[in-house]
Amino acid sequence: MNVLILMGSPRLQGNTAELCKPLMEEFRTQGASVYYMTLADKKIAPCVGCYACQEVAGEYGCVCKDDMYAVVEGIQWADLIVFATPIYAWYCATPMKKVLDRHYGLNKYYGSAEGSLWAGKKVAILATHGYDGAYATDPFEMGMQRLCKHSNLEYLGLYSVQDEDNLASFRTEAAVEGAKEFARKLLK
Ligand SMILES: Cc1cc2nc3c(=O)[nH]c(=O)nc-3n(C[C@H](O)[C@H](O)[C@H](O)COP(=O)(O)O)c2cc1C
Repeated sequence: MNVLILMGSPRLQGNTAELCKPLMEEFRTQGASVYYMTLADKKIAPCVGCYACQEVAGEYGCVCKDDMYAVVEGIQWADLIVFATPIYAWYCATPMKKVLDRHYGLNKYYGSAEGSLWAGKKVAILATHGYDGAYATDPFEMGMQRLCKHSNLEYLGLYSVQDEDNLASFRTEAAVEGAKEFARKLLK
């Protein structure tokens, strides 16, 4: 299986990146091909809402010719896309939100073009957060579940760990084993 991990924290060596390590390790141990892509260091403009992508069939078709095209290439290669993000203001952090908004050209719902460039792909969430569990992650998870339904993607679930002591929280046996177990579950 081809797995794309989109790491959306502004901190490239922060908590979310730390929790991605055991997840990736286990994916590879289980024989998956993994592509880890950080978003904060990419040039990705916010969606301008022009709907031009809805008139372009068979390709992404966004007028913003930036690094989102590399993300789209990764998405098209992947069987499973893991959205890894810290929770910021009860949702994902900005680098990931820009990618989510720019998904429009992957669905051709609102213009002359038809079809989808990503229907049927599997999606999962890896999150880190300051507040406890579902209280922190529910709004983002609900948004992603709705996006998946809207886009005909298969939502597989979420694994998250609370930030109680910065990096140390994500290096505990429970956090590491939890991430590995989640990876095995996603590959089933
Ligand atoms: C600007 C900002 C907003 C945050 N908002 C939330 C929030 O709404 N809910 C929450 O549980 N944690 C929140 N946090 C805590 C982070 O989600 C948490 O520390 C996370 O592990 C940081 O991951 P990172 O090191 O990958 O950036 C926020 C942190 C920052 C810096």
